[in-house]
Amino acid sequence: MTPDSTLLHSLAQQVGTPFWLYDSSVIRQRIADIRFLTEGEGIQARFAMKACPATKILREMKENGIWIDAVSGNEVLRALHAGYAPGNNPPQVCFTADVFRDNALQVVLEHGILPNVGSPGMIAELARAGYQGPISIRVNPGFGHGHVNSCDTGGPSSKHGIWFEDLAETARSAARAGIRVVMLHSHIGSGPKFQELHENLTRLAAEFAELLPQFPGVEAVSLGGGIPHNYRDPNVQIPLEPLQRMFADCREKLCAAAGRPIRLEIEPGRYYVAPGCSLITKVTDIKQTRTNEKGQGATFAMVDAGFVDLVRPAMYGSYHRIDVVGKDVAHAECESIVVAGPLCESGDIFTRDESELLVPRLLPKMEPGDLLSIRDAGAYGYAMSSNYNSIGRAPQLWLEADGTVETMSRRETLADLLRAEG
Ligand SMILES: Cc1ncc(COP(=O)(O)O)c(C=O)c1O
Repeated sequence: MTPDSTLLHSLAQQVGTPFWLYDSSVIRQRIADIRFLTEGEGIQARFAMKACPATKILREMKENGIWIDAVSGNEVLRALHAGYAPGNNPPQVCFTADVFRDNALQVVLEHGILPNVGSPGMIAELARAGYQGPISIRVNPGFGHGHVNSCDTGGPSSKHGIWFEDLAETARSAARAGIRVVMLHSHIGSGPKFQELHENLTRLAAEFAELLPQFPGVEAVSLGGGIPHNYRDPNVQIPLEPLQRMFADCREKLCAAAGRPIRLEIEPGRYYVAPGCSLITKVTDIKQTRTNEKGQGATFAMVDAGFVDLVRPAMYGSYHRIDVVGKDVAHAECESIVVAGPLCESGDIFTRDESELLVPRLLPKMEPGDLLSIRDAGAYGYAMSSNYNSIGRAPQLWLEADGTVETMSRRETLADLLRAEG
């Protein structure tokens, strides 16, 4: 639900536009959904914090017993800053990567974080650094599929993980270095449909069940993230009961194959946060091109948010619902309009598809000064925003159930941008 028009206009007055508004009740509902999915014995949920690493969000996760999957040294440090415990007993924070970049290796060593190794050479790197602790191995099981073609999470053309047929040799090289494999992991994405998700995860769990007898030290198996969110129709979401049964079945099969208790993990990112945040932007102008002989021509709503804020439409052609604040599409006079941002880039368009074509949206007629709410922007939204064009990231606000609003992060200033230049 978009908060009422008066609140949004008043926040726009206070902090300027654009800004991100997180809705605590929506995020808490999604956390409750994941808790429901993992309520069986021996099933643990993580949050893939890359989707939304704000401290406020991490603390909500922690309060609900959700562990963390981090993908950089600084993500691990952010999780510790939010209150997660270091160490690997239990591994509240694990570090998943195919490359140790920057401080990652040092952070793993210093804080005893469980590394989830996605490339065989990382084991040699750990060994050279004197690491003798446990590891998880990220496996490429030979199949998989993300939410769009460019999200290639498993199969022969995916860069992620260690090819399943190389797993035994990788484990032997770890053993020679005195490193124990305690977890097997795979994140293969899911595709947006329930049937596909169900088939992929069941098949993945079956493959892990076959492998487990060769890995007597393995305590946990992770099926990764990829629980989809329906961006087009908020009323049609993934059915939770069959998914809960599937996770319970998968765990049972894994325990039976191993002949001991195995912890089953999942690590969704998007599902927790996607619907819980809107990007609020102001219409600055309406303009038209004239139709040419090919019938091309468009009306543009120029807005002050761009792909420096929300890059998903420009990057993947992702669809986000757009509301004109205070105007109801069912009752207002509507027009087909392209929503375009302020950047000096022709691809700075919120209404486009995967083939990079403009897709005008039927929206209530708008005028300069109107606010738009770009919906379902909580996952890979602020997290993927950038400082291209030196604009500075927009502020993140948190709306409590009682209507109070808290600042999660302020608008970045030029001084923030120049700080790294010394
Ligand atoms: C290793 C890993 N785990 C979990 C996730 C979360 O995926 P999603 O946000 O689709 O649930 C990702 C996302 O790319 C990932 O790379």
